[in-house]
Amino acid sequence: MSVRFREEEFAELKNLLHVYEWGQRTLLTKLHIMQDDFKKFQDNNPIEYITGRIKAPESIAQKLHRMDVELTAENVKKYLKDVAGIRITCPFARDIHHLVELLRVMPDVNVLDEKDYVSAPKPSGYRSYHVILEVPVFYSGKTEHVVVEVQIRTEAMNFWSTLEHKARYKYREHIPQHLCDELVICADKIAELDHRMFLIHEIISLINQDGES
Ligand code: GTP
Ligand code: MG
Repeated sequence: MSVRFREEEFAELKNLLHVYEWGQRTLLTKLHIMQDDFKKFQDNNPIEYITGRIKAPESIAQKLHRMDVELTAENVKKYLKDVAGIRITCPFARDIHHLVELLRVMPDVNVLDEKDYVSAPKPSGYRSYHVILEVPVFYSGKTEHVVVEVQIRTEAMNFWSTLEHKARYKYREHIPQHLCDELVICADKIAELDHRMFLIHEIISLINQDGES
C-alpha cells in the first residue's frame, strides 16, 4: 500500500532530512578520525568499514503508518530513531564492545539507548549492537541535537543480515519456516566462525610479540 506525506508536510520533511544528514556527517567525521588514529598510531584497528544512509521518505512514511501515527515532520522527530543511520563493521566480535565503550566516552555525543543483540541475538539469529545517540549540530544560529542510529557488527554478521534482509523483502516478512531454521543455523555457525577467526588472530599476535622480544 502506498502512503504519502501531504504536500506541506513533505516540504517540512525534506528540510528536516538535511538536518539529519548534517548530524550523520558530524558523527561520520568523528568516526573517520577515530579510524585514522587506529590505523596510524595503534596496533589494532577495530573499524573495518563505516557506511551511512538516510532513510528514504517512502520508508519513513510506511514506518509511521505502521506505528499508526499521523504523517508529519514533527512525528518523524518524535517517533523515529533511525532516520540517520551509520553502520560500522569490525574485524572481530570483541571489537564491537570496545567501540561501544568509545562511543560512550566521546565528547559531544550523548548515548540515548543501546540494544546488545550480540550478547542476546534475536530469535531470527540477528546479531549486531545498536546504539541510539544524539550529536549537536549548529545551524541557523542555534544548536539542535540530532538522533543517529549506529549499528555495529562483524563482517560475518553483516554478510548474514544482508542476506536475511533480502529474504525478508522477497517473502514480504513471511520467510518459509525451513529457510528461517536454516538462517538460524547459519547465524550460529557465523558466530562460531567469528570466534575461531578471533582465536587465530590472537595466536598470530602472540607469535608477532615473540618475534619482537
Ligand atoms: P525497526 O526494526 O527499525 O522498526 O526498529 P526497532 O525499534 O524494532 O529496533 P530493532 O533494534 O529491532 O531494529 C532496528 C534495525 O536493526 C532494523 O531496521 C534493521 O536494520 C536491523 N534489524 C533488526 N532485526 C533484524 C533482523 O532480524 N534481521 C535483519 N536483517 N536486520 C534486523
Ligand atoms: Mg525491529
